[in-house]
Amino acid sequence: MHKICMTEDIPEREARSFELPDGDTIFITQRDGMFYAYQNLCPHLQVELEFLENQFLDLDQEFIECSTHGALFVVETGECISGPCQGQALEKVEITVHSDGGIYLTE
Ligand code: FES
Repeated sequence: MHKICMTEDIPEREARSFELPDGDTIFITQRDGMFYAYQNLCPHLQVELEFLENQFLDLDQEFIECSTHGALFVVETGECISGPCQGQALEKVEITVHSDGGIYLTE
């Protein structure tokens, strides 16, 4: 089972990117004590979302934001609610938080 990181590596309303063994880049964010992971690919042009390292959220840290054209995505669902890919969604990555505090890829 692949361990990605520890829960304390991802503070509430922040995000961190990680490279998986298969080469995919994902990011994980925490909201209200829950952790959400997505592929780091905007559904608009299939580019990475962030401009600065680990900057996946908008200024208010309310939505996930694509730095290229400003699309906004709901943290909990990945759905795009504003921008050129409205109605599309980020691709969710299934993760599991184990009792050791580790965040693992769900097999
Ligand atoms: S590439 Fe993300 S909104 Fe255009």
